[in-house]
Amino acid sequence: MLLTTLCVYIFAILRSSDGMFRFASYYGDHMVLQKAPEKAVLWGFGPDNAEVTIYLSGQSTAPVVSVVDGIWRVALVAVKAGGPYNITAVTQNQSITLTDVLFGDVWLCGGQSNMAFTTNQVLNASDEMALASKFPRVRIFMASLIQSHTELTDLDGVEVPWSVPTAELLGGGDFRHYSAVCWMFGRLLYTTLGYPIGLVGSYWGGTPVEVWSSPRALKRCGLHRSNWFPKSSTLTSWPWSTNSVLWNAMIHPLLNMTLKGAIWYQGEANTEYHLNKYNCTFPSMIDDWRMAFHQSSGGQTAADFPFGFVQLSTYINSSLPDGFPSVRWHQTADYGFVPNPRMKNTFMAVAMDLGDKTSPFGSIHPRDKLDVAYRLSLGARAVVYGETSLAFQGPFPNKFLINDQYINVTYDQRVSVTQSKNIFEIRCSEVQTSCNPLSSPWVPAPIMQWGQSYVLVSTRDCSSSVAGLRFAWTDWPCDFKACPVYSADGVLPAPPFSFDKWSPRNGLVH
Ligand SMILES: *[C@@H]1O[C@H](CO)[C@@H](O)[C@H](O)[C@H]1NC(C)=O
Ligand SMILES: *[C@@H]1O[C@H](CO)[C@@H](O)[C@H](O)[C@H]1NC(C)=O
Ligand SMILES: *[C@@H]1O[C@H](CO)[C@@H](O)[C@H](O)[C@H]1NC(C)=O
Ligand SMILES: *[C@@H]1O[C@H](CO)[C@@H](O)[C@H](O)[C@H]1NC(C)=O
Ligand SMILES: *[C@@H]1O[C@H](CO)[C@@H](O)[C@H](O)[C@H]1NC(C)=O
Ligand SMILES: *[C@@H]1O[C@H](CO)[C@@H](O)[C@H](O)[C@H]1NC(C)=O
Ligand SMILES: *[C@@H]1O[C@H](CO)[C@@H](O)[C@H](O)[C@H]1NC(C)=O
Repeated sequence: MLLTTLCVYIFAILRSSDGMFRFASYYGDHMVLQKAPEKAVLWGFGPDNAEVTIYLSGQSTAPVVSVVDGIWRVALVAVKAGGPYNITAVTQNQSITLTDVLFGDVWLCGGQSNMAFTTNQVLNASDEMALASKFPRVRIFMASLIQSHTELTDLDGVEVPWSVPTAELLGGGDFRHYSAVCWMFGRLLYTTLGYPIGLVGSYWGGTPVEVWSSPRALKRCGLHRSNWFPKSSTLTSWPWSTNSVLWNAMIHPLLNMTLKGAIWYQGEANTEYHLNKYNCTFPSMIDDWRMAFHQSSGGQTAADFPFGFVQLSTYINSSLPDGFPSVRWHQTADYGFVPNPRMKNTFMAVAMDLGDKTSPFGSIHPRDKLDVAYRLSLGARAVVYGETSLAFQGPFPNKFLINDQYINVTYDQRVSVTQSKNIFEIRCSEVQTSCNPLSSPWVPAPIMQWGQSYVLVSTRDCSSSVAGLRFAWTDWPCDFKACPVYSADGVLPAPPFSFDKWSPRNGLVH
């Protein structure tokens, strides 16, 4: 169901060996380079010992460097947002020029098919594609779908070279061209920030987090690169034979460029693969990307660069009953919200209320990507761009008061509530006598009443005491934009949670 594509293995080729003078594959006309205060890193290939000078619209703006082992690399001076500029790299008797280069914020977009989902596939696609011409200072780039058993120095292919957006580039074949979430996030940021935004797409449908993770990151979670994938599963048939193959081919080559941050939409594939490790593998991949981009850019990309992600939406007929709820929870390192102490400088778009049962691309691929991108952009504005009073997180409980009739679930903000009999569930300390040994220990806890920032849920269906409480713990918890608990303005849904054992972190007060 998820996009999978046959592909050819590319083994590392020392492309520098030809000694040809050029930029790395992802430097091109119309690109966006990271603006000040960071310095943009430029690099490329050339004949050994040649000296390279970089000119920014005629001015020399970086130290002269020499080609070593076929590679040259420079950090420009910090350039404030704007442009266009021409950037010329000169060596001996040759020069190469990149034209129409802008300076702004560069965001990397990664993940699986819901990130690969193109603007052509979204609701109101023609309206969205018509917007392309209104945002000539949002620039797009996309890496080709390639895997490798070793870490590549440069991308081995480019699907969309740096371009001024057009309807044609944003469209293209389903799942094969420019990401709708990436594009919409970029244009929403542009509308707020008013300066250029560069979008670097590197995503592939059907992929589990392990293929995007370095062996170093996986090792911290007890996984090794030699782990082989199942031949197929109900969600996808895997064209990847081992872990790390897309880290090698589609992320590692990008490490030298200076980035502002990354956004990510992935996790569906992990509902069936190393599910119980996702609370380690996902945060570990973020840590590892941050460390690697920081080091390889010579400290220009922040060591804690912002990382935004989409919490899984919905899926009908999942083969594993706990898959979607567990991945949603693990995406937050089991805190339920971000940023949190384990996942600092992150932001999350909750999407479980954006389900789309009749999506022609399967229910796992909801077509409303604009709300996804909008919620992500709120997170970026609050966490990254200093709009400290902007609401970007849905309500999350910070106190549970239990008596013999109900639990008073108190939220960290004002809430807007609608009645529901089963969105909350409780686990009774003594399992109810039942003829069916497989019956769930969880029973519905109907909403009884609510106030400005609390909800009372009934415990009458537990004859014993209550041992746990969970919220929205199903594949498909609510209808479109109709979850029972939202922020007071009705915009941001309360994220799911499961507190199976009361603990001090949950703030339980008896
Ligand atoms: C960049 O170079 C092109 C020719 O290659 C020229 O037409 C253009 O005016 C230059 N732009 C800047 C900003 O110097
Ligand atoms: C530049 O000079 C080198 C020798 O120094 C020569 O091999 C090469 O062909 C020259 N390239 C161009 C484009 O003239
Ligand atoms: C980054 O730049 C260094 C040179 O400073 C080079 O050795 C390396 O191959 C480049 N690419 C990556 C992916 O590290
Ligand atoms: C991750 O979740 C699994 C089960 O879902 C749990 O056993 C494990 O302790 C959790 N690990 C971390 C690092 O939180
Ligand atoms: C889900 O499964 C049920 C029962 O097997 C089936 O009737 C229904 O059509 C399926 N729904 C979708 C959207 O595939
Ligand atoms: C699609 O367009 C309709 C009519 O303009 C609008 O009401 C709706 O919010 C749009 N939906 C999305 C997801 O863009
Ligand atoms: C629920 O708890 C909140 C404080 O956490 C309190 O203000 C409210 O009065 C309580 N509601 C009931 C009905 O106990």
